[in-house]
Amino acid sequence: MHVLILHASPKKKGGASRFFAGLFSLFLPGTRKKTVSINSRQDFQRALELFPGMDVVCFFVPLYVDGLPSHVMEFLSQAEKYCKNHSCRFRLYAVSNNGFVEGKQNRPALHMLQAWCERAGITWGGGIGIGGGVMLRVLGTVYPILIGIILLQMAVSFFSTGIVPSGLWRSFAIQIFTWLFLNSGVLFCMARLSSAIRREQVLTDQFTRVMIPSFLFIPIANIFMILSSLFQGRFLFALLKREK
Ligand SMILES: Cc1cc2nc3c(=O)[nH]c(=O)nc-3n(C[C@H](O)[C@H](O)[C@H](O)COP(=O)(O)O)c2cc1C
Repeated sequence: MHVLILHASPKKKGGASRFFAGLFSLFLPGTRKKTVSINSRQDFQRALELFPGMDVVCFFVPLYVDGLPSHVMEFLSQAEKYCKNHSCRFRLYAVSNNGFVEGKQNRPALHMLQAWCERAGITWGGGIGIGGGVMLRVLGTVYPILIGIILLQMAVSFFSTGIVPSGLWRSFAIQIFTWLFLNSGVLFCMARLSSAIRREQVLTDQFTRVMIPSFLFIPIANIFMILSSLFQGRFLFALLKREK
């Protein structure tokens, strides 16, 4: 099975859509996958030329103003003509993520992609809406660092004293468990999406979110946004030199 993973954030580096696309490719072992970014017009033709050979196209998009980003609309308009002229036969699945915590806010974006499928003569396979996409993306950077620090402490302790204190094992287990828990909704939905793709089934749209209660999400997101604007949108990303 040939699967094309398209991530469509306008961000050139990093970004939540790219993060989810990378995560989802882990759920597709044994398939022939290709991952392509369409963050600007220059990428459109290269992505379109891959369409005819694909059984599945999986679209990873950010929610912009309760809809799809404008460059994605432009891409879809070109893709509609391309698909009609080249008799593309793939099934389209989509994963949309947003900044607010409710995954259901992605419903209009998924509907727009479904409507595009009807116009372009493509089979709609269903999709996932993920709330708190930015937070999950940031946690995807923070947790590996935390876990790396604990592993370093464990290594130092082992080589200096010959034992690893049980407290370090406990911290290690807590960090892994917490990270998995926060991502559990996304991991579960991605497993369902992967199963639908393999069985060539239509997935009823799934909505999930970062597993943090809203009363905690809102103050954490506010603090992040205040710090982010103080550092001109580059807080944490500047620190980690991962994203513009
Ligand atoms: C121009 C713009 C519009 C946005 N509109 C919404 C919105 O309507 N609802 C929402 O929940 N998040 C909105 N967001 C937040 C993004 O959906 C969120 O940051 C997403 O994770 C970005 O994904 P990316 O990093 O792949 O670009 C918007 C962000 C931008 C830059």
